[in-house]
Amino acid sequence: MQWIKIFSSPDDALERIQPGSTQLLIVHQKRICLARINDDFFAVADKCSHNGESLSKGKINYIGEVVCPWHGYRFQLKSGKESAERSADLETFPIKQDETGFYIGL
Ligand code: FES
Repeated sequence: MQWIKIFSSPDDALERIQPGSTQLLIVHQKRICLARINDDFFAVADKCSHNGESLSKGKINYIGEVVCPWHGYRFQLKSGKESAERSADLETFPIKQDETGFYIGL
């Protein structure tokens, strides 16, 4: 696995991504939806497995799912599972944070 530095520090990530929000990242040609819930971050594939909409345009609901803005499919940010099993699971990406930076594993 290759760790890609996204932010200079954990604090930098907390400053740039607000709680309850999503951010599109393009890392080595991969589109990744980075989501923040409280002080926890999750990274999943940005492409909705139903029909390809960008999940970083979606909203995070109160149970930690990102909701696709097109047809409302819900994906668990921790596991990438589509909550009603109507569509394939999303690829998930690990996150590592330490004093040297904030990284996503590809
Ligand atoms: S494209 Fe995401 S729910 Fe249809």
